Amino acid sequence: GERPGYNNLSLTVKRVTEDHEGTPTRGVCSNYLCDLQKGAQVQVCGPYGSTFLMPNHPGSSILMICTGTGSAPMRAMTERRRRRMALKEGGELFLFFGARSANELPYFGPLMKLPKELVDINFAFSRVPSQPKQYVQDKIRERHADVARLLQDENCYVYICGLKGMERGVDEAFRDICRQHGADWEALLPTLKRQSRYHVETY
Ligand code: A2P
Repeated sequence: GERPGYNNLSLTVKRVTEDHEGTPTRGVCSNYLCDLQKGAQVQVCGPYGSTFLMPNHPGSSILMICTGTGSAPMRAMTERRRRRMALKEGGELFLFFGARSANELPYFGPLMKLPKELVDINFAFSRVPSQPKQYVQDKIRERHADVARLLQDENCYVYICGLKGMERGVDEAFRDICRQHGADWEALLPTLKRQSRYHVETY
């Protein structure tokens, strides 16, 4: 909830007007939502499953990796931790966030206002003129020492949300980082899954 204590539901919507190849098309759900009038009644059902619940014990760390509207759950998790900052419960937050440019990044303003000691934010922009194309997996590789430490920290939970295509790139980055730091990703991944420390929601 964006406002604690209210019956709010917040969505992160990008209006789809073209497909991945750039051919004009109208996304059914995003256009329906974007065209709603203020005060309109909407039928809502869900949630389904419990795959993206955040750890709620003090001291837990969260490694968040997302592109575009995949930032929605990360927004919820960082906001909750921001509200609880005064409790000094410990744990680290790391965010890797990919978008075409800063203008296309949901929550850019609010993210920039978060205290630096709350969350370590790493942006990857893919379409900024005269800058090299960067994806989240490139940023993850740059931060290999921290990522290797977090992956092997029993108190760190990993969340990946956004474009389907990023799954493979992130997996390859994790594999290389583990090798670089004397760990074995093939063995670590099943452990993470068994301990409910690895959550993936891509589309
Ligand atoms: P790209 O500029 O190559 O499309 P979108 O705005 O379409 O939701 O995408 C969010 C971000 O995810 C964009 O920067 C996009 O880059 C990037 N992206 C696209 N494919 C991949 C991939 N395979 N791995 C990581 N990021 C990707």
